[in-house]
Amino acid sequence: MQSTAKAHPNIALVKYWGKADPRLNLPAVGSISLTLRELHTISTVRFGEEIEKDNLILNGRQAADKQVERVSHFLDIIRKMAGIGHRARVSSENNFPTGAGLASSASAFASLTVAASSAAGLNLSPGKLSEIARMGSGSAARSIFGGFVEMKTGQKADGSDAVAIQLEDEHYWDLQLLIAITSEQEKETTSGEGMIHTSRTSPFYGKWLYSSQRDLEEMRAAVFTRNFPRLGEIAEHNCLKMHAVMMSARPGLIYWTPPTLEIIRSIRNMRRRDIPVYFTIDAGPQVKALCTPQAAAEIGKTLQRVEGVKRVIECTPGPGTTLAGN
Ligand code: DP6
Repeated sequence: MQSTAKAHPNIALVKYWGKADPRLNLPAVGSISLTLRELHTISTVRFGEEIEKDNLILNGRQAADKQVERVSHFLDIIRKMAGIGHRARVSSENNFPTGAGLASSASAFASLTVAASSAAGLNLSPGKLSEIARMGSGSAARSIFGGFVEMKTGQKADGSDAVAIQLEDEHYWDLQLLIAITSEQEKETTSGEGMIHTSRTSPFYGKWLYSSQRDLEEMRAAVFTRNFPRLGEIAEHNCLKMHAVMMSARPGLIYWTPPTLEIIRSIRNMRRRDIPVYFTIDAGPQVKALCTPQAAAEIGKTLQRVEGVKRVIECTPGPGTTLAGN
């Protein structure tokens, strides 16, 4: 009863920030993302009669109790579906920094969903896998699929239609995403905590929810017409709007550091010189630069020179989550 799965993180072009139902982890807004080939998480799950307690080894080390608890709680969903009671040993390895705004929970829970459901003997559709992954982490529902992916809020109270769908696969459009790493430290406020805090205290939260509808429609159209300036402009707008709503919570959430602003400035300067590049930023200090392959080398070099940038990771559209053998 052991399976291994490989999942890639994704970066949202239209962001998920807000929960309609924290218990089922239903998103309050839809989102659109791009799955990334170069980054991955590989997870192995083994259910066994002899295993007394669920455990998680993360990047070769014993995970903190809080993380083990989150995984154990998540495995309960799969155990219930499969009608098994066995505890599990889980190991998970990332080839990138964990918990620093690089969407590690997306690839972690997508790989865990596929590995655990297979190890439990379940044979599930991609839609069902996406629904289960969502209960682990909202962004993980998108990483089940490759390429351009849209997460739906759904209408049903049980969350069965709050799943992701693929808009276009990873071969559709050869965009690049350069991640400028400024810090590899884990963030203080997790996305989940930050969202709940924002929804309770920001006076702009309602406006954020309402206005994301239009961003989703426009982003879908930009993807379907392969309109890069449009895609970049909407992504930047939506990202700044999300950070504005986070900052307007009480107390305000600020995920940026001085290098974050320096990178934004550098990207806007490049645009003034007609280099097509746009940014997006998640719940962390790293900046992700969206560009076309023709401009990537020059943009990468410029970002590398910005003070506070430790390294730049070049990413391309990647595939969905796959089983890596048993
Ligand atoms: C800023 O998916 O990590 O990256 O559902 O609570 O696990 P939980 O949140 P998570 O939030 C991701 C937030 C974001 C935007 C996005 O990826 O859409």
